[in-house]
Amino acid sequence: MTSMKASELFDISGRVALVTGASSGLGTRFAELLAVNGAAVGLVARRGERLAGVASRIKAAGGRAVAVEADVCDRDAMTRAFDGVEAQFGTVTILINNAGIAHADRAVDMAEMQWRRVLSTDLDAVFFWAQEAARRMLAAGTGGAIVNIASVLGFGVAKGVAAYATAKAGVVQLTKALGLELAFKGIRVNAIAPGWFMTDLNREYLTSEAGDKLRREIPVGRFGEDGDLDGALLLLVSDAGRFIVGATIVVDGGQMVALRG
Ligand SMILES: NC(=O)c1ccc[n+]([C@@H]2O[C@H](COP(=O)([O-])OP(=O)(O)OC[C@H]3O[C@@H](n4cnc5c(N)ncnc54)[C@H](OP(=O)(O)O)[C@@H]3O)[C@@H](O)[C@H]2O)c1
Repeated sequence: MTSMKASELFDISGRVALVTGASSGLGTRFAELLAVNGAAVGLVARRGERLAGVASRIKAAGGRAVAVEADVCDRDAMTRAFDGVEAQFGTVTILINNAGIAHADRAVDMAEMQWRRVLSTDLDAVFFWAQEAARRMLAAGTGGAIVNIASVLGFGVAKGVAAYATAKAGVVQLTKALGLELAFKGIRVNAIAPGWFMTDLNREYLTSEAGDKLRREIPVGRFGEDGDLDGALLLLVSDAGRFIVGATIVVDGGQMVALRG
């Protein structure tokens, strides 16, 4: 087989993507990246107005997008979201399971409701949206790619993140389990584990003194910035990543490999 140019290898034009948590932060970036590379994109989150803004920007830039308001923890809303995107663009063949919340609390203080809220958003919903996407890809015989957004906190921990870190570790393991079961059907499931990126999720913390200390511990000397996850995402959703299954790609500026000392 002759070697391909990168533009062909990473080509996703004509595919249909659904991005959860597309109303802010990393999810908005993922949606815009997929659209600018030719995919039609379904945008999902609870804040409809913000989603509509992202959809307009994508369309103004010549892309295709539809906004569907949904809470990822609501199974009926999930079905409606897939139906809505499918009605506009056809079967979803790329799912980015990105919606997530963080909650910081010492384990002994954590209320049951907070534990359940984090686990249901950051882990349960990842499973149910992947399951729904896979069922539809199987029925349509399309194959596809599912990318779950994990975290470096799925591998290491810090104080105050018991629920979040447990959910993200679950995402890493779930990615392997789904990858194993679906690979034969042409559906690849992988994950990205970002390090620290300043978004609404953590702005307060990262701009504090503790955040300064964190930044100094990152080998590249800065937090993640817009665009730092683009390469990993495009790799996992395109044919460039066609033999990558069940993997979690860590994109963290070297944070996880650095020894303290
Ligand atoms: N930023 C980082 O440093 C970092 C590092 C590692 C991993 N991550 C992961 O990256 C993902 C995106 O986070 P971010 O940093 O971009 O945070 P963000 O700016 O707060 O974005 C989170 C997104 O998730 C959506 N969301 C939250 N709960 C939802 C629900 N129940 N239903 C539907 N949508 C929901 C939010 O939209 P609505 O509020 O409009 O619903 C928002 O669009 C998360 O999974 C996070 O854990 C982030």
